[in-house]
Amino acid sequence: MRWGYIVYGLFVSLCEVCGVAKALVVYYSMFGNTEKIAKALAKGLEDGGVEVDVAKVDAVKFDELGGVDLLCVGSPVQAWNVAKPVKEFLERLKTVEGLSGKKGFAFDTKMKSRLAGSAGGKIERKLKDLGLTIVKPSVSAIVKGREGPLEEGAEETFKQIGAELAKML
Ligand SMILES: Cc1cc2nc3c(=O)[nH]c(=O)nc-3n(C[C@H](O)[C@H](O)[C@H](O)COP(=O)(O)O)c2cc1C
Repeated sequence: MRWGYIVYGLFVSLCEVCGVAKALVVYYSMFGNTEKIAKALAKGLEDGGVEVDVAKVDAVKFDELGGVDLLCVGSPVQAWNVAKPVKEFLERLKTVEGLSGKKGFAFDTKMKSRLAGSAGGKIERKLKDLGLTIVKPSVSAIVKGREGPLEEGAEETFKQIGAELAKML
């Protein structure tokens, strides 16, 4: 067990020395669809050589945000807007120092309707206000019904977006 910690510690130190980029994908999900998209995005980033963590909004370690190069934030659209737990997370980000200059990307999941509203654009604006540089305009994944499932190919699309973002780090 102790050896496990030592090897992990050495790996983390090596990543720091070698300058491996770090990303954090933060999401909220009521039915699991946004979570699947967050994990697909993370897989693409990881395949692109980035060290990635995926965290639900209520599990984010705010003191570790300083070491992150790219912050991705995703929310389901609820009542034409960002879901409340994500709004609260973004509010709390205002208390975190040193976010300025980091890279940011926002995404959402929503229904296929002209009246669906959006969350990604609003998250993106908040990230910009906090001083992050938006590296790619927000992207939506479509759910076929209120509880899902996701449209075919949505996870693959986000895996590719992850790979694309990895090249920007
Ligand atoms: C309370 C509530 C309000 C919702 N409002 C909207 C909406 O305004 N527009 C929309 O496109 N989808 C709406 N939806 C559908 C969600 O976007 C969908 O449940 C979500 O994308 C699924 O992601 P999740 O599984 O990560 O929760 C709503 C869902 C809930 C539960």
